Amino acid sequence: MPDDPGYRSAASPATFPDSHLSRVLRQPLILGLFLPVQSGGWSASLLPRTTDWRFDYNAALTKRAEELGFDLVFGLAQWAGKGGYGGVSKYREDSLDPFLTSSALSVVTERILLISTIHVLFGPWHPLHLAKFGATIDHISGGRWGINVVTGYSPREAQMFGGQHIEHDRRYEMAGEFTDILCRLWGETENLTLRGKYWSLENAFVTPKPRFGRPILVNATGSPAGMDYAATHSDLVFITSPAGHEIDQAINALPAHNALIKAAGAQRGRALRTIINPMIVCRETSAEAHRYHQAIIDAADSGAIEGFVTHQQTGDAVAWKSHQDKHRALGGNIQIIGSPEYVVDKLLELKRSGCDGIQVAFFDFAPDLEFFGQAVLPLMHQAGLRI
Ligand SMILES: Cc1cc2nc3c(=O)[nH]c(=O)nc-3n(C[C@H](O)[C@H](O)[C@H](O)COP(=O)(O)O)c2cc1C
Repeated sequence: MPDDPGYRSAASPATFPDSHLSRVLRQPLILGLFLPVQSGGWSASLLPRTTDWRFDYNAALTKRAEELGFDLVFGLAQWAGKGGYGGVSKYREDSLDPFLTSSALSVVTERILLISTIHVLFGPWHPLHLAKFGATIDHISGGRWGINVVTGYSPREAQMFGGQHIEHDRRYEMAGEFTDILCRLWGETENLTLRGKYWSLENAFVTPKPRFGRPILVNATGSPAGMDYAATHSDLVFITSPAGHEIDQAINALPAHNALIKAAGAQRGRALRTIINPMIVCRETSAEAHRYHQAIIDAADSGAIEGFVTHQQTGDAVAWKSHQDKHRALGGNIQIIGSPEYVVDKLLELKRSGCDGIQVAFFDFAPDLEFFGQAVLPLMHQAGLRI
């Protein structure tokens, strides 16, 4: 489709020096917060905590993250059935849709980027829907919204929509066409007619146009097809550790992994920024952090862990294979457990390994975010990780 005569695709907000994305990209280490819009957040543990999927809790977290200087918040989208992923907690049974949640969050914030996950291939989504809805939330947020394009790794989720699971690489081909059409609808200044392999348009038009070219585009991947999609379309790429959740092993494996993804972008003349998501358990001392971690593990909701891991294993995601061990009671892709000094050392190592940003999650979001703001962020500034 890019070869069509008169092709006019919207430019990345990274090409606008005054865009919110460009401001964020000037940070030495981009700092994002996962929102616990799903019950249980990232942790299948029954240890008491404040973490709550409800809007008010997530809005308070987002406002606080913005005050603390965080760059972005991000919400997952998963389609769990009754009982969620199981266990005593019915892990993730309750969940807010991140797209609608971001729309509401955009009116209570001013600066922070809002990224929502959308399964573009589930149900009868047409790119024209999402181009219009995306232009609307871009307008409401003043150009702060972005989409994490996911293709749906879980057969069970595809079947919920009455559809069939589509083969892994074909999903990326479809998502590529979907995204091309989105970008054309955001960029074209005349009615658009086209016949694609999967979607067609006749005299379609979208205005208002996004504030900075187009909304921010994100995807999460570790597969060749997903990297190729990222190289073509994405501004930010969520990556996972190719060596499991243990932080030092992850740091050893990440330089080669980051280099591979960035090389894929460079081949298309594009700079890709990678973001990894650590679960952080931080207390004044290492001993306290490890005691707290142990309490989380001791209260593991084993039924929920089993259900979640089984769900992950029935899918075909290349990045992020889940294994059924106790670390899932805390969750997250990689885990950093220790004192503020230790956490900042590990963040420095992540940066040296080629990660451009972190997307942090906590066990007990509100108090842990507060502690992070007081004890870790000043050290990040001192270490040159934040300006
Ligand atoms: C940080 C992060 C967030 C993700 N969020 C979602 C999500 O909300 N919904 C979803 O279906 N998949 C989500 N995924 C999984 C991706 O959609 C994808 O299946 C996975 O990264 C594997 O991609 P790959 O097969 O190209 O390696 C996420 C992955 C990562 C790393």
